[in-house]
Amino acid sequence: MKTLVILAHPNLNVSRVNRRWKEELLRHADRITLHELYPEYPDWTIDAAREQRLLEEHERVVLQFPLYWYSYPPLLKKWFDDVFAYGWAYGSSGDRLKGKQIGLAMSIGDKRRNYEPDGSVSFTVEEVIVPFTASLRHVGATALPHFAAFGASFGASDEEIKRSAKDYARYVLSEDHLPRRSE
Ligand SMILES: Cc1cc2nc3c(=O)[nH]c(=O)nc-3n(C[C@H](O)[C@H](O)[C@H](O)COP(=O)(O)O)c2cc1C
Repeated sequence: MKTLVILAHPNLNVSRVNRRWKEELLRHADRITLHELYPEYPDWTIDAAREQRLLEEHERVVLQFPLYWYSYPPLLKKWFDDVFAYGWAYGSSGDRLKGKQIGLAMSIGDKRRNYEPDGSVSFTVEEVIVPFTASLRHVGATALPHFAAFGASFGASDEEIKRSAKDYARYVLSEDHLPRRSE
């Protein structure tokens, strides 16, 4: 069974981390379906039925994006609004995401230590992604441990990004869902 990776980066041309992660995933195309929202929907008209079909075809899903204002880039938010629809994802007959394994993979600008309880952000990544975990709970899906790479805005070296890409591919392909976190 392939893992579906939904990649939401507004401009991969200027990305260092997510672009490198994407290149790494493409080396495993036999085991990963890579689906990029911004090039798929340049006018932001999301084909919800198509997205729902993709979700139904995969048991495991990873949402990959850069953390923007402690949240998703806006097209991914719209994807949730359009695709997690009443009668499909929730409501009396909406059970299509029940038991689906869904994880988040984020590149994060700030340093890991600032996301510690006593760091300058004051919230951990687990706390930042509460809207996501609450949404998954609402639709009966299973939240996988997240994957995060910190320090993207603090001059992460090519070597560090390369290493995080390898860790990320292992996370996506992992069968045991162990938490994997890179620097
Ligand atoms: C609009 C915007 C908002 C951002 N908000 C945050 C944030 O809330 N927290 C943080 O740690 N980094 C933040 N960053 C830094 C990004 O997370 C970082 O640039 C990105 O993860 C790098 O990935 P990339 O090389 O694939 O673009 C923000 C960057 C932008 C452009």
